[in-house]
Amino acid sequence: MNILVAGGAGFIGSHLIDSLLAEGNSVVCADKLIMGDENIQHLYGRDNFKFYNVELADQNKVDQIFIENKIDVVYHLAANSDIQKGGKEPSIDFNDTLLTTRALLEGMRKANIKKMFFASTSAIYGEMLDVELTETTGGLMPVSYYGGAKLASEALISSYVSMCDMSVVIFRFPNVIGPRLTHGAVFDFIRKLRNNPAELEILGNGTQCKPYIYVLDLVEAIIKLTREFNQGEIVYNISVIGEGTTVTHIAEIVVEELSLQNVNFNYTGGDRGWKGDVPRFSYDISKVLATGWKPKHTSDEAVRQTVKDAIAAGM
Ligand SMILES: NC(=O)c1ccc[n+]([C@@H]2O[C@H](COP(=O)([O-])OP(=O)(O)OC[C@H]3O[C@@H](n4cnc5c(N)ncnc54)[C@H](O)[C@@H]3O)[C@@H](O)[C@H]2O)c1
Repeated sequence: MNILVAGGAGFIGSHLIDSLLAEGNSVVCADKLIMGDENIQHLYGRDNFKFYNVELADQNKVDQIFIENKIDVVYHLAANSDIQKGGKEPSIDFNDTLLTTRALLEGMRKANIKKMFFASTSAIYGEMLDVELTETTGGLMPVSYYGGAKLASEALISSYVSMCDMSVVIFRFPNVIGPRLTHGAVFDFIRKLRNNPAELEILGNGTQCKPYIYVLDLVEAIIKLTREFNQGEIVYNISVIGEGTTVTHIAEIVVEELSLQNVNFNYTGGDRGWKGDVPRFSYDISKVLATGWKPKHTSDEAVRQTVKDAIAAGM
């Protein structure tokens, strides 16, 4: 198949491209390289790989990609992934998360492309702390611009599915970690401890607890569930089996893997890391497990493996 991966130079998108190419597909990657092209440098020059350095909120540029390439499926992973940065400047989420969705859907409509995978997020649920979240949980009230832009994207996708007879698979990711990571607690703690191995500042009170999925487990699920697209829209909450990991436990794992001792944890206090953060959530993942996919790592194992990966990569 000929596949467009929007946001393919990013952390998750680049792993997805590696797998799509390994499956024998041709991939067009479109990305404006917010964090550079390190993740796709190994793909340049390959026959079945093409790259566009492009602003995906720009309708004319998106249309041009569809004119120049015969695309069968669009994997849409372009978004602002730095939630704290978006919290300071809402136009980032509006442009990178919502307007990219609009431009891709419009491009697909004009080019008569019917199949899309969309990377959504637990942030669309907002703050539902003691609810086991299923794909049909209602009353969604996102508490970050990022979550708002993703929920608006889902709504827009739903309308295109109905109006243009599209087939779309939506995954609502939890925290995703693994090789090539660039954000989040695991990444921050390693960076901070490399600078000062005696002390670690931890945002919030450390009890924030979320599931962390290993990126290669996630990519396996995406590939498996998009081998065939059924007519209409199908949503999956995707996560790990078992408990999430607390922020304090992430810090303990990082300290252990870096072979440090007597590190002083300094908590900034409060029940969350920043405004727009959700301190904890829990997914019901029976729908995705019923497909036969099963994650290989628990949340704690994913954290530990990610730290090992980062050390191996020289971080
Ligand atoms: N990483 C996570 O924990 C997580 C959790 C939930 C959902 N997601 C979603 O998964 C997707 C991938 O996340 P990631 O962690 O790989 O993020 P990432 O930032 O590493 O990758 C996103 C890519 O999109 C590109 N991009 C953003 N706006 C663009 C624009 N306007 N035009 C062109 N390119 C643009 C960036 O340059 C970047 O390469 C995103 O949609 C994100 O919202 C990620």
